[in-house]
Amino acid sequence: MDNIVLIGFMGVGKGTLARAAAKSSGRFAVDTDDLIESLTNTKIKKIFEKEGEAYFRELERRTAKWLEENVRSTIVSTGGGFYKVPNLKKIGKVVYLKADFDYIYDRITKSKNAKKKIKKRPLFQSYKKAKALYEQRAPEYEAVADVVIDVEGKSTKELVDELMSLF
Ligand code: S3P
Repeated sequence: MDNIVLIGFMGVGKGTLARAAAKSSGRFAVDTDDLIESLTNTKIKKIFEKEGEAYFRELERRTAKWLEENVRSTIVSTGGGFYKVPNLKKIGKVVYLKADFDYIYDRITKSKNAKKKIKKRPLFQSYKKAKALYEQRAPEYEAVADVVIDVEGKSTKELVDELMSLF
C-alpha cells in the first residue's frame, strides 16, 4: 500500500498538506471528497441535500474500497468523517492532523474565502453543532491514528517536513 492517509476535522488543512507534501515528494495527492464528486458528478453539498448524509457515508465506504484496491504511493486527504470507513487501516498509514476546535474555527472563518468554505460544508453551519461534532470525534480520531501531528501554529512547510520525516 505505502499510502499516507490524512484524517482530522473539517478545515484543519488535510487537503493543503496533502498537496504540498505530494509536490515535495513527487507523489500524487488525492482527496476523498474530490473522488466522490467525480464519481457522482455532484458537489458534496448537493449530495447531502438531495440524498442525505447516510448515502454520502455509503459513497465514502465505496471510495475507501476503491482506494484500497487501486491506489499506491499516494497521499490521501479525507473528508472529516471518512475515518469511520471499516477498511481505513488497509488503505495506508493513518495520520491524524490535530488542532483545538477554536483554532480550526478561526482557520475557516477568518480565511479569505470563509463564506465559500462554510457554504460547501453542510456540517459546519453553526459553531455549536460543529463543536459538538468535534468533541465527539476527537477521541475517535486519536484512537484510529497510527501517528498524530499537532498542526497548531505550524506552517505548511514545517508540516510537510514533519510528515515526510515519519515515513
Ligand atoms: C465532512 C467533512 C467534509 C465533507 C463532508 C462531511 C464531515 O470534508 O466530507 O462535508 O463529516 O466532517 P472536509 O473535512 O474536507 O471539510
